Amino acid sequence: MSEGQWGKIKNNMIDLSVNFAGIKAPNPFWLASAPPTNSGYQIMKAFEAGWGGAVWKTLGVPVVNVSSRYGSVNYRNTRMMGFNNIELITDRPLADNLREIEEVKKYFPDHAVIASLMVESKKEWHQIIKDVENAGADGIELNFGCPHGMCERGMGSAVGQEPDVLKLIVEWVKEAANIPVITKLSPNISHIVDPGLAAYQGGTDAISLINTIKSIVGIDLDSYAPYPIVDGKSTNGGYCGPAVKPIAMHMLKDLAQHPDISKVPISGIGGIETWRDVVEFILLGATSIQVCTAVMHYGFGIVREMETGLRQFMDDKGYTTIYDFAGKALPNVTEWKHLNLEHKVIAEINTDKCIGCDLCYIACDDGAHQAISIPSEADNRIPSIIEENCVGCNLCALVCPVEDCITMVKKDDGTKHSTWEERTLADDVPITFDDDRAGGKGHYVPKPSDALK
Ligand SMILES: Cc1cc2nc3c(=O)[nH]c(=O)nc-3n(C[C@H](O)[C@H](O)[C@H](O)COP(=O)(O)O)c2cc1C
Ligand code: SF4
Ligand code: SF4
Repeated sequence: MSEGQWGKIKNNMIDLSVNFAGIKAPNPFWLASAPPTNSGYQIMKAFEAGWGGAVWKTLGVPVVNVSSRYGSVNYRNTRMMGFNNIELITDRPLADNLREIEEVKKYFPDHAVIASLMVESKKEWHQIIKDVENAGADGIELNFGCPHGMCERGMGSAVGQEPDVLKLIVEWVKEAANIPVITKLSPNISHIVDPGLAAYQGGTDAISLINTIKSIVGIDLDSYAPYPIVDGKSTNGGYCGPAVKPIAMHMLKDLAQHPDISKVPISGIGGIETWRDVVEFILLGATSIQVCTAVMHYGFGIVREMETGLRQFMDDKGYTTIYDFAGKALPNVTEWKHLNLEHKVIAEINTDKCIGCDLCYIACDDGAHQAISIPSEADNRIPSIIEENCVGCNLCALVCPVEDCITMVKKDDGTKHSTWEERTLADDVPITFDDDRAGGKGHYVPKPSDALK
């Protein structure tokens, strides 16, 4: 339904419900397997707050956890911009978790309760699948991502990093499972398509990603031990939170663009905190999203902003379900060699908005292309762009603290289009550094000695 045809749709016509590989939920907002899903109490509280699904904290072999177990990157005024943990899977008894899964499903039959699992042998997989099915779980998520502790025992990311082993375990699981199976991937791999394809070939019903990224978030400057410190020592943790969102979105894109992997639905995870994050993940092909760190930081209530924002976005664009716009950004993500080399933008400063902070001048002069000048009069700090030097890199607009004060304006007339691939095929690419077709030739660069003036 387009807005042009029907006018603005009514918010109450919007249907946020999802059917994710057969797992039904009233909305795509799910809790990721992590501390917010440790217990039935938390999951019922979350469902009451508005979450549509929850992936239970991973169930598996008996473990012991350490203390402390979380670390964070606080960047300037933002706490927990990045978050890391060295926690293992649930340390609660399996029988307690199974009983609580059953209880949650009794109260919330229409919400999605997914059991995250991690065990080792085929026999153990088959047994635990039976257990969670008997408890009434709507689906299973295979945790092939935990990058600490469990991987040392041949589980978690040790499986996520070995596509052949991953495929074998998905096959074992599919032999026994009567409910949909989601394979959760580890980002600790250079080419995410390899485990993604292995999961697809093993018969998974869906994929979720990302789990956490191996990390060290900081070192204590007295004890010289990394955080979080366990009796004077530490280990690599799993990184998550807002800092990892770009990595998660890139990996999601790689899977959602793959002709085979994209046949199964993908649940997007990694740094999701606001409605805008949710929309961006859906635009890259996710049809449910999962959240951990943002809930650990702000609580279950954040789902209200997510839902209101998502509804408003859908209303503005004329969408009635998330499937109307899922994956719509994918055709716009291409390889560098397909970008139009004839497209030219340069920076333009709105002098009415400029506060004369000179951040753009410093960034361009020291960190880019010396394309901004500042008047010599002491009482005028309003910079101007030296058009012929500006390569349109965007840096000044990114550092400028005033919204829309620096914008990039188009300078080509839009009639020409050529890409690196087209030029390579036409034998029209620079072959020596003196070649006039080389990009940087003819760019203005001050003499080295000008730095001393
Ligand atoms: C403290 C903590 C414990 C976690 N435990 C699990 C787990 O048991 N099983 C699992 O699959 N993922 C686990 N995760 C990973 C999250 O489910 C999620 O994939 C990751 O945190 C990225 O999402 P976020 O950026 O929203 O936190 C854990 C994450 C954190 C921070
Ligand atoms: S776009 Fe880049 S080159 Fe142009 S003025 Fe800004 S920082 Fe300098
Ligand atoms: S960064 Fe923005 S506000 Fe500051 S001098 Fe440059 S244009 Fe003006």
